[in-house]
Amino acid sequence: MKRKLSGGQLLDLIDGSLTPCEVLIDTVQGTVLALGTDLPEADETIFLHGEWLLPGLIDLHVHLREPGQTHKETIASGTLAAAAGGFTQVACMPNTIPPLDTPQRVRDVVQRGKAAGAAQVRPIACITRDQQGQELTDFAGLKEAGAVAISDDGKGVQDGGLMREALVIAASLNLPVAIHAEDASIARGGLMNPGAAAKFQVPPLSASAEAAMVARDLLLAEETGAHLHVCHVSAEPTVALIRFAKARGVQVTAEVTPHHLLLSEEAVRLDDGVFKVNPPLRSERDRMACWEGLLDGTLDVVATDHAPHTRDEKAQGIWKSPFGMVGSEFVLPLLYTHLVVLHQWPLQRLMHAMSLRPAQVFGLHGGVLRVGGPADLTVFDGSFKTYIDPKKMHSKGQNTPFAGWPVNGRVRLTLVAGQVIYRETEGTTS
Ligand code: DOR
Ligand code: ZN
Repeated sequence: MKRKLSGGQLLDLIDGSLTPCEVLIDTVQGTVLALGTDLPEADETIFLHGEWLLPGLIDLHVHLREPGQTHKETIASGTLAAAAGGFTQVACMPNTIPPLDTPQRVRDVVQRGKAAGAAQVRPIACITRDQQGQELTDFAGLKEAGAVAISDDGKGVQDGGLMREALVIAASLNLPVAIHAEDASIARGGLMNPGAAAKFQVPPLSASAEAAMVARDLLLAEETGAHLHVCHVSAEPTVALIRFAKARGVQVTAEVTPHHLLLSEEAVRLDDGVFKVNPPLRSERDRMACWEGLLDGTLDVVATDHAPHTRDEKAQGIWKSPFGMVGSEFVLPLLYTHLVVLHQWPLQRLMHAMSLRPAQVFGLHGGVLRVGGPADLTVFDGSFKTYIDPKKMHSKGQNTPFAGWPVNGRVRLTLVAGQVIYRETEGTTS
């Protein structure tokens, strides 16, 4: 069967131009048959009104919580939330209960992802057994089972010697090692960036806890030739270290979250657990360094670190709430508004960091719309004005500090392999 999208505009990821374009899709093969104007008739045509045709977005950092914490999120709800945000693939972190530390558990998540039929699931498996930082997992078996990277996200691997061993094996398998950089001897259970911590009399979690581990792992990556991927970069020294390492030819990639780009520790309120995230919201200087890092490519990708928690869990204030914020569903309108509309960033820079570059970083298909390639695409209406409304979200978690923020744009349609996995059903006029 053939499906056609008619009336959209194709974004050129190089020069940022938007050109009227139709897309003809082979829904059996799941590929793009043709791009252009006056394309042949199809069995089904979806008519658009000038919306932008973007390569399907790819999120390299989400928490789907299944198995074990399905009250927070399930693979079905998390991948539907991702699809509603325009994502066609998500890499999910292994800090589930039990953690994804065996090939069988990885295969199980892949299977459940396929059954859910929304954004495609690319599991990240554990570096160490049970994420205990003691014993390495079977990297080859995990990769064979479908793991696209390994990570002990949620905590850092504290033992540098073990990390070195991990990088040696990962290098031989060409498997990226995604690090949650947090030196526990510096972090000491801290909760907030030092400024906010002093204001609220809570233990500090300083940028040095992140940067120290990043420095160690950059040295080890240089020595071993492994691909190090630094998760959720939040601090100026970390950006500087990664920039330095890239100039030295270290195989390092890095991600930044929407919350570290748009919020600083000044936003934190003691009584509101929604601001609690790890790494914490940092200083204005750190935030600006993340902007510069993303703009100059030091930080390769935007990843949401979508971390759903229940309302009750997050109602316990800063001391007791779990760390984390959701992000899948509104990151594109949010960053389009703040980076492109309000600060004149080139649209293609943002899109590159949310589609092509993530695909390259974890070696995934997609990231670009081309004839013969997968029909994974996102239809975005940049002219629509709305507010971020957690009640309209598909995630089980509504824990976002961006609730009520005005944004430009909404995702109208998300397709994976030519199948519509999400369709915006509200009114069509702005
Ligand atoms: O804020 C966070 N939440 N940071 C992490 O590293 C883990 C995540 C989670 O699993 O909730
Ligand atoms: Zn993390």
